[in-house]
Amino acid sequence: MLTLQVIGRELQGEVVLLTLAHADGIDLPTFSAGAHIDLHLAEDLVRPYSLCGDPKDRQHYQLGILKENQSQGGSLAAHALNVGDRIQVSDPRNLFALEASAGHSLLIGGGIGITPMLAMAAELHAAGRSFSLHYCARSRDGAAFISLLEQAPYADRVQLHFSDSQRLNLTAVLTDVPANTHVYTCGPVRLMDAVTEQAAALGYRPEQVHQECFSAEVETGGAAFEVFAATSGITVQVLENQTIVEALAQAGLKVCVSCKQGICGSCLTDVLEGEPDHRDSYLTDEEKADGDQILLCCSRAKSARLVIDL
Ligand code: FES
Repeated sequence: MLTLQVIGRELQGEVVLLTLAHADGIDLPTFSAGAHIDLHLAEDLVRPYSLCGDPKDRQHYQLGILKENQSQGGSLAAHALNVGDRIQVSDPRNLFALEASAGHSLLIGGGIGITPMLAMAAELHAAGRSFSLHYCARSRDGAAFISLLEQAPYADRVQLHFSDSQRLNLTAVLTDVPANTHVYTCGPVRLMDAVTEQAAALGYRPEQVHQECFSAEVETGGAAFEVFAATSGITVQVLENQTIVEALAQAGLKVCVSCKQGICGSCLTDVLEGEPDHRDSYLTDEEKADGDQILLCCSRAKSARLVIDL
């Protein structure tokens, strides 16, 4: 965990751009494009946000955070931060990394989903690698990052698309590409689903398409079961409409959580006995099949009892 200071705050439309640095000016832990950090905004209010600055910049972490009307507190608390405020953040973690072997990287960001793409574009440009970036927004007015993209050293690789003009032609964008292109998409679920479906229809292999989930609709309910936290020696009953995290908290055992939606991996725990019922979008299909790890914020058990390493 790091304690950083807000040294820059700029509002662009509904997006606040925050620049964080160490108060003593020391270098921050390195990150690669696509990484995020968790902001600890309040007790039990931890939210992951993509790093959108240049990964080569060791002094600053930059974030772009949308003010969300449906916010459960995270974006509002982030928007309330001011220059001089201190905040605790996690080390960077990357669940959306660039594929090193790609012949070309096609970045498609919608709305606030552009943030990881900015770091990706900076990294790809610095490495002299082939890429193009498509940014979809409702309209030019009020869209964040437009001037940054238009003035970037890679501006010739950027295409802007607006709902009221220059709409994205997904088929054309996905068709006219070099061999071994990898596609990265982040933004509204509708956009990510369209990219994934269109890419599959055009013959892209699943491993060529990467997406970053900011939120997922996850069904956490199901039949009750028992969990034994082996290290703590605590047994709990997880009721039908309760998560393992909630049941453990009632017994006084706190689990570190961030997204609470099976996305970020904060609550990943080893399974010692029993069969998990995976509900997350963090583990790969192979890892789920192995059955030796579980995300406690959303997943359940297929067996009557789970023993976990906690
Ligand atoms: S808290 Fe994010 S995966 Fe569980």
